[in-house]
Order: sequence, then C-alpha cells, then structure tokens
Amino acid sequence: MSLVISHRGANRAAPENTLPAFQKSLELHVDGFENDVHMTRDGCLVVCHDDSVDRTSNGKGLIADHTLEELRALDFGGWFSPAFAGTKIPTLEEWFAICGGLKVINVELKRAPDGSTASAAAVVALAKQMGLFSKLILSSFELAMLQAALAADAGARVCQLFAPVSPCCERIMDDPLAYAKANRLYAYHPFVGAVSKEFIDECHSGGVAVNPWTVNLDYAMTTLRDWGADGVITDEPALAMEIMYG
Ligand code: G3P
Ligand code: CA
Repeated sequence: MSLVISHRGANRAAPENTLPAFQKSLELHVDGFENDVHMTRDGCLVVCHDDSVDRTSNGKGLIADHTLEELRALDFGGWFSPAFAGTKIPTLEEWFAICGGLKVINVELKRAPDGSTASAAAVVALAKQMGLFSKLILSSFELAMLQAALAADAGARVCQLFAPVSPCCERIMDDPLAYAKANRLYAYHPFVGAVSKEFIDECHSGGVAVNPWTVNLDYAMTTLRDWGADGVITDEPALAMEIMYG
C-alpha cells in the first residue's frame, strides 16, 4: 500500500490548489495533500502552482508583485468553471486548517522570482504554530529551499523533487543515498517515469522514502504499490484510493 497524496487537490473536479478542490479530496478520505506555495509582496504565504496569477485567475502578474489583499480580490475559480466563480486564492493558513485529519501534508516550496528562500522558514513556523509540523513534508525542485527549511528546523522532513531533465538527476541516479545523505533528505519525489524498483529498493536500504509524481494511470499505481513506493502523488485521487484500499 502506498499513501494517496492528492496533487493540487481533486483538480479534475474543482480548480486546482483551491479549498473546494481539497475539500473534494477530503471527501475521498485521501491520506495526504500536495500543494504549491508562494510568498506575496507583503510576506504572506498563498497556495498556487504558477508564480504568476495569469493562468488560474482573472488577474495578471506575479504573485510576488501582489499583496495578499490584491490577490484576494481576484477570482481563482471562474477560469475552471462558472460554478466556481469567485473562489479565492487560499492562504497557507486556511489550507493548513483543513489538513488536521491527514496522515501527510506535502507543501511544495516554489521558486521565488528573486531567488529568495524566505517562504521555507515561514512555512515551517506556521506549521509549528498550527500543530502540524509532525505531519509536514517539504518538497522542492530547489535545493536552496530545502536547505532553508533545514536551517529553520533541523528536523524538517525535506524531499528532493526531480525529473529526468533536472540538473540534479544524474547525481541522484549515480548514488541516491550519497545525495540524500549530503543533503539530509527525508525523501525523493521523482517524476513517475524516472522510478524503478531498484531505485526504490536502494532508497529504502538507506531509510529514504520515495513518493513519485504525477501518478495518474491505474497501471502505474499498481506497479508503484507493488514496488513499495511510500506514496503516490496523483491527480486521480478516487482511482488511487480504489487501487490502494479497494
Ligand atoms: O510535487 C509534485 C509535482 O507537483 C511537481 O510538479 O509542476 O506539478 O508542481 P508540479
Ligand atoms: Ca507541485
């Protein structure tokens, strides 16, 4: 059995990374959520995949150039369906507030346009304040973000995201345990196509977890389950729950 981690919420049924999408995942009793976090111009943490609001709202421009108040005036649901018009961008605090019953809470730390890593320590602090730090895993493609999370708390569970095109991929594939040890990783979050049973076995031999993304096909889900993947990050939470729990 692999934990079912809902990627951006139930994003086929509701606009990605919004509270309605995550509420729909809660109704499926998933094990965990994955989101994407950015910092606003005034230092607030918000949940959104892209660094700009262009694709998923009726606004324009970078999140980092908006205040929270400006972002909250935008519609993050109408682009998906008129039924969700008026949906607001969630703050990370609002998002954490619905995560209490989960087994695992995966915050992805997205790259800031100016290269700042300030969001990492802020996420750690908020998770602690809300009593959720023990369930939190922090993933990023940016090693600097993971290092900033560890600087904020040496016990932070940090996870390296990578794909075959990632600069770190070759080093990881050469020696996954050496890279994990050097960077104090809790887990790898590889692109699904980069995973093999041998990779999972080697990671597990050194106590490193493996949570592939984005696992959307039933064959991939059953294969990864049988290979012992710790979790699957998926856009198809209902199918994954059926496969993992019957
Ligand atoms: O966390 C896994 C996955 O979400 C990484 O890619 O672009 O969907 O954030 P992306
Ligand atoms: Ca993500």
